[in-house]
Amino acid sequence: MSRFDAERFKANERAGFNRIAARYLDASASRAALQAALIEQAAPVAGERVLDLASGPCLLAADAARRVGPGGLVIASDIAEGMLAVGRSALPPEALGPMRFCAADGEHLPFADGGFDLVTIGLGLFVFPHAERALAEIRRILVPGGRLAVSVWGARETVPLIAHAQDCIARLIPPPRVPRPSVFRLGEPGALEALLSTAGLAVESVAPWTLPCRFASPADYWQGFLDLAGGAAESLSRLPADVQARLRDEVAREVEGCWHDGQLVADSQILLALARR
Ligand SMILES: C[S@@+](CC[C@H](N)C(=O)[O-])C[C@H]1O[C@@H](n2cnc3c(N)ncnc32)[C@H](O)[C@@H]1O
Repeated sequence: MSRFDAERFKANERAGFNRIAARYLDASASRAALQAALIEQAAPVAGERVLDLASGPCLLAADAARRVGPGGLVIASDIAEGMLAVGRSALPPEALGPMRFCAADGEHLPFADGGFDLVTIGLGLFVFPHAERALAEIRRILVPGGRLAVSVWGARETVPLIAHAQDCIARLIPPPRVPRPSVFRLGEPGALEALLSTAGLAVESVAPWTLPCRFASPADYWQGFLDLAGGAAESLSRLPADVQARLRDEVAREVEGCWHDGQLVADSQILLALARR
């Protein structure tokens, strides 16, 4: 029987997020309130050294940079160099002062021990196939007492934004021979707390937060999913055109029950967590 190939999985994620980088940046505006909530929780202050992991188009990193100011440092890091490049080119020059950029796998960080006061990860911890390895690295690079602030998707049944799309894919396309790690696995009750504690971090809070997700049509919903899920977008791009068309029809049927007051509503649950080394 084949075994899960983490390196292959990461290569697919990297290719996919590079593929969708510009669209991901555009769609990020719809998640501005989530980003603000995470930064509020992380509370970077002047002079701090911050690592934003799985940074994507660097928006969280840029918010942190505004707070740490010229005496601080913010490194935006992501496995997909195209995401960092798109984000960097969209930032005004005055935002770049304390910012640096580093393409790297979050499970193998090229940073010295104890060099950061704060690590942030927006919608990213679940993308690491071995999240415990990423957390061991985070613990290593944080100063004693340093903070980790993360957002992750809630349990599957609370995230229609992704679950409807995955249900359609599962009905039309044979499953991968080896199951991939679920993006919902840290949203199960107690899972995030357990993972953080096992990594040697003291959990200060884990709280639910609702992400409003509204769409004008099934096509908008489907595009919204593709603009968020790099790995899925990469795999689906290899399907023949007729299968892609059937998938769009399937999505239209799937979301029929989501209409409310002229909008497709797929509001989804997030968990926001803060932990300390
Ligand atoms: C859903 S996006 C989140 C982006 C951004 N933090 C946000 O809040 O919108 C997930 C990001 O994780 C990155 N990623 C996936 N696997 C990774 C890995 N092994 N190491 C570092 N980054 C990774 C992807 O390239 C992508 O930019």
